[in-house]
Amino acid sequence: MTSSYVIRGASILGASPADLFVSDGVLVDSAPSNAEVVEADGLVALPGLVDLHTHLREPGREDAETVETGSRAAAMGGYTAVCAMANTSPVADTAGVVEQVWRLGREAGLVDVQPIGAVTVGLAGKQLAELGAMAASAASVRIFSDDGSCVADPRLMRRALEYVKAFDGIIAQHAEEPRLTEGAQMHEGEVSTRLGLTGWPAVAEEAIIARDVLLAEHVGSRLHVCHVSTAGSVEVLRQAKARGVRVTAEVTPHHLLLTDELAASYDPVFKVNPPLRTAKDVEALRAALIEGVIDIVATDHAPHAVEDKECEWAYARPGMVGLETALPVVLSVLGEQWDLIADRMSRTPARIAGLSSHGLSLRPGEPANLTLVDPAARRVVDPSGLTSKSRNTPYAGTTLPGRIVATFLRGEPTVLDGKAQK
Ligand code: DOR
Ligand code: ZN
Repeated sequence: MTSSYVIRGASILGASPADLFVSDGVLVDSAPSNAEVVEADGLVALPGLVDLHTHLREPGREDAETVETGSRAAAMGGYTAVCAMANTSPVADTAGVVEQVWRLGREAGLVDVQPIGAVTVGLAGKQLAELGAMAASAASVRIFSDDGSCVADPRLMRRALEYVKAFDGIIAQHAEEPRLTEGAQMHEGEVSTRLGLTGWPAVAEEAIIARDVLLAEHVGSRLHVCHVSTAGSVEVLRQAKARGVRVTAEVTPHHLLLTDELAASYDPVFKVNPPLRTAKDVEALRAALIEGVIDIVATDHAPHAVEDKECEWAYARPGMVGLETALPVVLSVLGEQWDLIADRMSRTPARIAGLSSHGLSLRPGEPANLTLVDPAARRVVDPSGLTSKSRNTPYAGTTLPGRIVATFLRGEPTVLDGKAQK
């Protein structure tokens, strides 16, 4: 089924209202016949958002999320493409598993699901996974990551960077020197001292980023740094970029908004890896995102089943869901800087991931991948109202600006009137 739409009176990236015409999956320059009208008075149109870092949990933890439920949550959050992290069970370290995830994404048909492959077999950090076979598979993997674990062995990291250079692939690093974070429960600082919890020091992240930008520079490969969380990391990245190192970096919505003070509640919903940092780090991350030292916002959407999250702090899994609140959080942090938001949440992540039909301008001839946002709406986050299979949001009861009203994937609405269409 292919339909035609007139999206009436949308403000593209905050410009004066205009009509958008959709036919056969693409934007066209005049109203198609028999078009369905979507009233977009007061709504802002953005290119469909692209998430470079989503945990979809399938295969293995379908009780927490599936490719389908995560895709639906993504569409509800304004996304048209997500990159699925490899720390599933089994791990996405073979062509078979990445093809399975890719196929499930196509079957769900709610967002484009681009699998990320593991760097090492079983994420064990011992032996390179079959990167070439994953790249050559139907899933055409270009990004590899052991996210959840750091590729700590410098020789393996070097080999991985060398290997992916042949096809301009990317190693996305979870920067955490494991010897410096043994037993860590939260950010190492005043609050951890006060609470008597073992700290995760900023230098454990910064040391790995510093090492890896040098390795990437030496090899001439592309490095991407996942969930940058400290002011010191920003400085390392700034210097590397100034030297021309091929490095990109992401920050999560939660690291842009929340601080380590929240750990004092001992509510595991605030436990995440890397941990929430200080207000000074938050300030540096915001400035770096605006400046472009940090290239993009990525959710690190990490759904967890109730029994893995609603337990004692020390035993709870790290991670929080993020797809459905990412844009509202970023809007609350950056304000209505629509072009900047489109750049950091759609254009640049699409370019980094090589997703050529996403992150494009909303003009005739381009694929109709877009989202409509009501910037005037204010919503209190209610975990039971989330589309994700898991409920571990740190924003329960928080009022956030902006509501995603509609999302279109290749000209078909995946969300309309704030409701998922399938
Ligand atoms: O908080 C996190 N959760 N950090 C990670 O690196 C992994 C993720 C997960 O898979 O739950
Ligand atoms: Zn992650």
